[in-house]
Amino acid sequence: MAYIEEYAYEIIDNMDDARICTQLLAEEFSQHERLTSFYKIPAQSLFDALLPRIKDLLGQRLSFLAQHRPSGEIVGAVIADDLYEKHKNYSPDSPPATYPSRDLVNELTNQFIHNDFDQELKPHLVAYILLGATRAQHTGKDVGSRLRAMVCNQARIQGFQYVLVQVSSPATRHIYTKKLGGKELSVIDPTTWIWKKKGDGSCPFKECHGDPIPNILIRLTSDSNE
Ligand SMILES: CC(C)(COP(=O)(O)OP(=O)(O)OC[C@H]1O[C@@H](n2cnc3c(N)ncnc32)[C@H](O)[C@@H]1OP(=O)(O)O)[C@@H](O)C(=O)NCCC(=O)NCCS
Repeated sequence: MAYIEEYAYEIIDNMDDARICTQLLAEEFSQHERLTSFYKIPAQSLFDALLPRIKDLLGQRLSFLAQHRPSGEIVGAVIADDLYEKHKNYSPDSPPATYPSRDLVNELTNQFIHNDFDQELKPHLVAYILLGATRAQHTGKDVGSRLRAMVCNQARIQGFQYVLVQVSSPATRHIYTKKLGGKELSVIDPTTWIWKKKGDGSCPFKECHGDPIPNILIRLTSDSNE
């Protein structure tokens, strides 16, 4: 583990760090995340939409940052919430989101709650990873894996039994399934996904090729290898 000493990891627990992490996530998603870059969502729009949500989540103490020790720069972040809290205000009748990826992900979350998960959703049962990114110059150095392992560990410490995530990247799919023991459940293929909330039959990711996007569930309790 050659990179362990190079990076420090900590909970995002203050506004200054939250702002820097939001900037990082907005820029990396806008440039490198599959659906966001395909739809050409500007980093500034993402930043404006994400900052209030990330500020609201500080009290949950489930989100982590990675700092590059030699430079002091924050180079990675993963944001998580209690799925119950995230989902409790969701309404299937709400208007379409500004960007379709949000509605696609909400549809997958609904499939998880109503089809994949055989329990009633309660507070402090399922932690939900909203998004995460590593600065492009620091990828491939275990930062993303360690951040996600820390979120899972912190969720376990807080009493959560599961972590749910949806992934659009082969690297995160590998991390969650091969390194953290997650199981794939329902999937949505963006290339055939119809933006139902928009109501015009549009298929905004028709040309956005790549793997289908799965719900991945990680069981945190000791019988996780059943
Ligand atoms: C995806 C991302 C988070 C990965 O972060 P990272 O810090 O490079 O992750 P790590 O170095 O810990 O691990 C990457 C792992 O994925 C593997 N990997 C990389 N590319 C892969 C691919 N195309 N297919 C399968 N596995 C792949 C690596 O081999 C490594 O696994 P290993 O440790 O077993 O060798 C980062 O590239 C990123 O932020 N991308 C832009 C935003 C984004 O797409 N976020 C995720 C949305 S779901």
